[in-house]
Amino acid sequence: MFGFGDKNKVYKVTISNTGETFEVNGKINLLQAAKNAGIEWPCDCKVGSCGTCRAILKEGKVKELSDFAYTLDGDMLDKGYILACQSSLKSDIVVEVDKDQKGVKDLQKAG
Ligand code: FES
Repeated sequence: MFGFGDKNKVYKVTISNTGETFEVNGKINLLQAAKNAGIEWPCDCKVGSCGTCRAILKEGKVKELSDFAYTLDGDMLDKGYILACQSSLKSDIVVEVDKDQKGVKDLQKAG
């Protein structure tokens, strides 16, 4: 059986740019799971408004807990960015975390 209501499912996350891996219990969001696993994952607001926790989703599927488009612009959405604090997992995933926050600086420069 798979599909809805499988709250105890555990998914695996691989961070492609650091090689770190951790597991996410289906109930909690990606950012919280990373923190629980002791992963250094940039974050600030934890409510989906700052964009600091963003990561590029390279493989797999997440569920948007709130609309990423409020915080991420169209270019970022096109590149596959997700907000970790607003994502729960629907499969194992591979992500690239914006650890050095270069994307933010570039973005701010670009205005
Ligand atoms: S920590 Fe602010 S958007 Fe996720």
